[in-house]
Amino acid sequence: MTDLLIDTTDGVLTITLNRVAKKNSITAAMYGGMAEALALAFDDAAVRAVVFQGHETIFSAGNDIGDFLNAPVSGQDSPVFLFLRTISTFPKPVLAAVCGPAVGIGTTLLFHCDLVYAGDNAAFSMPFVNLGLCPEAGSSYLAPQLMGYGRAAEALLLGEPFMAEAALEMGLISRIVPPTEAAALAQRQARKLAAKPLSSLIETKRLMKLSQATTVASRMVEEGASFGRMLREPAAREAFTAFMEKRKPDFSKI
Ligand code: COA
Repeated sequence: MTDLLIDTTDGVLTITLNRVAKKNSITAAMYGGMAEALALAFDDAAVRAVVFQGHETIFSAGNDIGDFLNAPVSGQDSPVFLFLRTISTFPKPVLAAVCGPAVGIGTTLLFHCDLVYAGDNAAFSMPFVNLGLCPEAGSSYLAPQLMGYGRAAEALLLGEPFMAEAALEMGLISRIVPPTEAAALAQRQARKLAAKPLSSLIETKRLMKLSQATTVASRMVEEGASFGRMLREPAAREAFTAFMEKRKPDFSKI
């Protein structure tokens, strides 16, 4: 699939979002491809770290809005939820190189990455409310934990973007670099990890995540049920239709 490039070199699985003409928005097929690649990497002892990357100008515009409109998720086994369950429980180190906008799941998937290297053009946003939706990927729990409730409310209720400096300060990302250097840095760090004892990496990651693992898993189920319902409701339908028609949504009668 050319929308998704998958490569394994030197113990590092690299998943590249490659749908730049549509701002790397993610289709059901791409979620399925990413979930499958992670599942194979889980079982493959030769894969010791995973890197997600997009383009120097765009990480991801989030879920494909045409898919939201025409094929809304229909249950916990939908490709997007399968992908989210897989990445959120993935035991080996996961890295990301993020440049340009990271919208919706483009930001929330980063809560499940261990090391994130951002270009100084990175802009993170979780505009679920603006789309008549609610948070996913455990972000209703993880964003307040990481950012504090006040900043999480600006990000999740107002849907306001935040830039790389703020993301660094709150610990969502590990370092800011020029956009031309983010992918190479992520690869270098992934190779460093790949040379370390895998069992120590896995145990250290497990221990660091232990206190939140059960809460995140149950929150994702609850978010998923609400998200699936809200995708079909009038506010979301209006938001998606407005995006496709390149106009502002009108929520005044909803
Ligand atoms: N789903 C489907 N198509 C999308 C998309 C998405 N999430 N995001 C962008 N695209 C498409 C646009 O429809 C447009 O297609 P066209 O050339 O056929 O008209 C193309 O990608 C370029 O997008 P455009 O909006 O013109 O680019 P931009 O540089 O002005 O803005 C973004 C970039 C990311 C800020 C903007 O595209 C955006 O806000 N996208 C929607 C983000 C969103 O709400 N995602 C859902 C989160 S839950």
